[in-house]
Amino acid sequence: MDPFEAARLGPLELKNRVIKAATFEGMSPGGVLGERLLAFHRRLAQGGVAMTTLAYCTTEADGRINEDMLWLHEGLEPELSRMVREIQAAGARVSGQLTHCGSFSRNRRLERAQRPLGPSAGFNLIGASVGRPFAGAMSQADIDHLVDSYANAARLMKRCGFDAVEVHFGHGYALSQFISPRTNRRSDAYGGSHENRMRLPLRVLESVRDAVGEDLPILGKISMSDGVTGGVDWDEGVRVAQSLDRAGIDAIVTSGGTSSFNPMLMFRGPSIHHGMIEQERNPLVKLGLRMLGPLMFREYPYEELYFLERAARVRDAVDCQVVYIGGCSTRESLDRAIGAGFDFVQIGRPLLKDPDFVKRAMADGRYDSGCTHCNRCVSLIDHPDGIRCTENDPPAGVS
Ligand SMILES: Cc1cc2nc3c(=O)[nH]c(=O)nc-3n(C[C@H](O)[C@H](O)[C@H](O)COP(=O)(O)O)c2cc1C
Repeated sequence: MDPFEAARLGPLELKNRVIKAATFEGMSPGGVLGERLLAFHRRLAQGGVAMTTLAYCTTEADGRINEDMLWLHEGLEPELSRMVREIQAAGARVSGQLTHCGSFSRNRRLERAQRPLGPSAGFNLIGASVGRPFAGAMSQADIDHLVDSYANAARLMKRCGFDAVEVHFGHGYALSQFISPRTNRRSDAYGGSHENRMRLPLRVLESVRDAVGEDLPILGKISMSDGVTGGVDWDEGVRVAQSLDRAGIDAIVTSGGTSSFNPMLMFRGPSIHHGMIEQERNPLVKLGLRMLGPLMFREYPYEELYFLERAARVRDAVDCQVVYIGGCSTRESLDRAIGAGFDFVQIGRPLLKDPDFVKRAMADGRYDSGCTHCNRCVSLIDHPDGIRCTENDPPAGVS
């Protein structure tokens, strides 16, 4: 298969097989859409990706990790529709990542709940710095409310003209917290066996499908492994994909790791705590990161296509389409991933380094984006100017 040929993602025709991965842009201060966010995605569209993904759109206000994330509500509809139309006019389809942080929150302004809610009560490390060190357990009414919030947000995305919806089932956020036995210690119908832990994620998938119908594809991003003792392991990751496949998902995106326990499994390369120390203004948090960073962020050496073999197990186990993600930064890697039978490839960091990745890779069989996987872009998600490649545009004082 050719990475640059047109291909169908479920019912949607894409002009090639390259999709910009969701990378939280940090360009929605106070949850407001701005010109910068539009310019970011328009630039990616101009560079040739078939589809770009608006990252981390939460289904309700309390689903935001912090107050500067987007949550999908009616007040956003006119601006969001305009943004989607303008990106489409620049040549790319637009997907939106539907998500909810569950208990992984440092949101100071919770609207519905008194504290962040997840499957089970527990300590909430990232909330500690904003006075929310504990998370509560969702009641049945909270679970029903969560499912409805996904359906409402998906309906809104459809009204706004999105071409696809990507439901986030991974990385340690709400649905992943239910899937993972490490964070889900419930003894009711939503905890225990694989089937029970998948109950809420499958209800969400069903409600999103009801909301968008058959004409919008639904992608599901999963963590093939949480990378933490007692969490989802590589074997169960395959079963997660199979459960979503049986429930009618259009495509699985095969990621790994969790933001809460093991983020470097997702990225590989130098730990993100180095960049976090550079960005942090609070001297106490800075000190804490210096001391605990090396313990909190286990490092894995970077290699191109670092999830290829793991993702191939998923590809062989499901009937739906599979989107490869993780470490595709050259034309050769793109050819290899598509040659290995993946339907599409999602690319994150290399497209921050070079938004013209697709155009250049089409023209040059030896193309290399130049992304060094330094992971400093990741540390900029809380920066007031949002994310960028620091190798293209170093922050003041950093060489
Ligand atoms: C700055 C940054 C922000 C990210 N934010 C998100 C996000 O909001 N949602 C998500 O699912 N993954 C997020 N990711 C992970 C990427 O989607 C992707 O899984 C990871 O970067 C590996 O792909 P790559 O090697 O192509 O960069 C983020 C990555 C980066 C670099």
